[in-house]
Amino acid sequence: MPAIHRPPRWAVAEGAATPELVFANRRAVLAGLGLALAGAGLVPRVVKAQTQGDAAARTTFLYPAQRNRTYTVDRALTPEAVSGSYNNFYEFGSHKQIARAAQALVTHPWDIEVDGLVEKPLTIAFEDLVRRMALEERLYRHRCVEAWSMTVPWTGFPLSALLALARPLSSARFVRFETFNDPGIAGGQKQVWYPWPYVEGVTMEEATNDLAFLVTGAYGKPLAEQFGAPLRLALPWKYGFKSIKSIRRISFTDQQPIGFWEEIAASEYGFWANVNPDVPHPRWSQVEERVLHTGERVPTQLYNGYAEEVAGLYKGLESASLYR
Ligand code: MTE
Repeated sequence: MPAIHRPPRWAVAEGAATPELVFANRRAVLAGLGLALAGAGLVPRVVKAQTQGDAAARTTFLYPAQRNRTYTVDRALTPEAVSGSYNNFYEFGSHKQIARAAQALVTHPWDIEVDGLVEKPLTIAFEDLVRRMALEERLYRHRCVEAWSMTVPWTGFPLSALLALARPLSSARFVRFETFNDPGIAGGQKQVWYPWPYVEGVTMEEATNDLAFLVTGAYGKPLAEQFGAPLRLALPWKYGFKSIKSIRRISFTDQQPIGFWEEIAASEYGFWANVNPDVPHPRWSQVEERVLHTGERVPTQLYNGYAEEVAGLYKGLESASLYR
């Protein structure tokens, strides 16, 4: 059953809305201001909402969602100020301080295409999708192959709920995800030696596992741009590069997708990328991880601590390189 959402308390009654002309003038002024600030990466949310498209401002009323207590953690949550200012999002730069540049991301209108081996291919506006889903909050570990980790309260819905909408055919074996491609707003995409757009993929078995989560929010609010607004994946048992941000297209296929990093360096980044302390990456030992904010070094756990939920997915695949 799709969730029913009441209009927010602050929603204006039609009669009380600003007359169109006043609004149009205000919009023109704000547009000028917005463009100037956008260049500097300094667009306040309220200005952005009126001048560029902003999914966050349009979906705030859905948050906070109820926490699903099945998905909890045994360590402190990473403060938002820390996790929101140390991000991998190569579309906006190949360093961690991309939060400001990422504010240029225009998240409305934002259509998501669902295609390939499905009974019901569809193109759905992000806002329609998020309203159809019953949102919940989950606390997840998040572990990068660079050996740092954080713990984040994500809000979203299980990937399996999207599968239920699209009804994949029995011939579908993989789900392939693709990010937007717009070098005009994402400076990193001007670096033509990278294989844009960012792509990632999982098997159908992984996609239907309860842990596979499509994220629309974090810290009780719509997703901030640097986290991969308006829609990203969270696969907490895998290295972070599998958790693709700012998804535009979801395709069902019988071909194993080649991810962005796998295409760049197949000897370093593979399809499975399951967290394992015993399999080092050529540049980073995986024995320990550095917890962001506290700086503490803690032992890495197999499947990032989610072995009970996911180890069964890999029975019979022992000969595959599951951990890189
Ligand atoms: N998705 C896109 N589109 N572009 C990226 O550069 N980086 C990945 C992943 N998803 C990336 C992406 C990597 S390497 C990691 S570790 C996580 O996003 C980082 O997520 P975070 O910034 O929310 O911690």
